Amino acid sequence: MNETMRAVVARDYGSPELLAVEDMPIPRPGPGQIQVRVEAAALNGGDLDLLRGRMADVAPLEFPHVPGMDFAGTVTEIGEGVTRFAVGDDVFGTGFPRATGRFSAAFCSPLSLTSGAMAEYAVLDADAPAVTHRPPALDAERAAALPISGLTALQLLREGQIQPGETVLVIGATGGVGSVLVPLLAVAEAHVIATAGADDEDHVRRLGAEEVIDYRTADVVAEASRRYPDGVDAVVNIALPADRLIDVSRTVRRGGRLMNAVHPAPEPGTYERDDLALGTINSAARPGDLEELAGWANDGWLPAAIGRRYRLDDGPRAYRDLVQEHTRGKLIVMMDR
Ligand SMILES: NC(=O)c1ccc[n+]([C@@H]2O[C@H](COP(=O)([O-])OP(=O)(O)OC[C@H]3O[C@@H](n4cnc5c(N)ncnc54)[C@H](OP(=O)(O)O)[C@@H]3O)[C@@H](O)[C@H]2O)c1
Repeated sequence: MNETMRAVVARDYGSPELLAVEDMPIPRPGPGQIQVRVEAAALNGGDLDLLRGRMADVAPLEFPHVPGMDFAGTVTEIGEGVTRFAVGDDVFGTGFPRATGRFSAAFCSPLSLTSGAMAEYAVLDADAPAVTHRPPALDAERAAALPISGLTALQLLREGQIQPGETVLVIGATGGVGSVLVPLLAVAEAHVIATAGADDEDHVRRLGAEEVIDYRTADVVAEASRRYPDGVDAVVNIALPADRLIDVSRTVRRGGRLMNAVHPAPEPGTYERDDLALGTINSAARPGDLEELAGWANDGWLPAAIGRRYRLDDGPRAYRDLVQEHTRGKLIVMMDR
């Protein structure tokens, strides 16, 4: 095996403009770890939050830093004590950057830790429910698209305890999390009202939304309140910053729920209403979660939502597109060798 690999690399905190593709030493697995030849990796906004240093006080990175959490690939080497996987196994999952270990353990312990997925090879902790076998029928790009978005959507669904027939407004339905959450809500027989630009209306309806509010031409709060004067049963926010949530809470019926995935979370006591169930979630993997998501993707009722594919050499551009361009579903980097 060559001793070096190609990887997307950051040499300091900053914007995605600082990312470059470089040769890096191939990471080797320590005890309890596996080395994976990455076939596909998916981008997440969280990669860029870490890169910009937004969490540097609690989760400092080490440089050079290889971004990327979500991956799918094949096990190429196992560390001492690993029995769950063998060389040649097809796997997928997600991990926080290894340097953030102490923070990750406190914040989202069920995730694995990784050397970084935007590379030809990555090392991950084997004994984490956020890394698992990939079913043969699920191709690598679909598997890589699932972990963070799917686990976040699952957490939101659990937090919301959505019942059949309930009205749920999803703000930010067109991105990675929304593209898993909307089908999950539809299968739970919720009546989904999705925000989407005009170009994405068909997309969110295909995912299972029954109503659409174009957030570019309409005030979402005013329009939802016009359609549902007594309020919707629940709102899921996956797009707006905390300071917008007081306004958003006006669209929720008395005794309803407002679930949020956007950080930083609102301060306690932010809301004027005390009748709402409010929660900000963090993605986490329970044993069986990834397997369940993969099964749903295989069964076909979790539609593929891959917005764009890139080659590894274009990985830095993919991160710039995530910030600057309109995206639909997930952006995927394929590691061509
Ligand atoms: N708490 C956690 O553990 C966790 C985990 C994963 C993600 N997140 C957070 O959840 C959010 C969504 O993640 P994601 O991966 O789905 O992001 P994404 O793929 O970038 O999607 C965000 C979507 O929101 C849409 N949007 C932007 N502004 C909007 C507005 N004002 N009203 C309605 N929709 C709007 C965007 O559409 P346009 O492209 O048209 O602007 C985009 O489709 C992010 O803030 C992310 O950091 C949190």
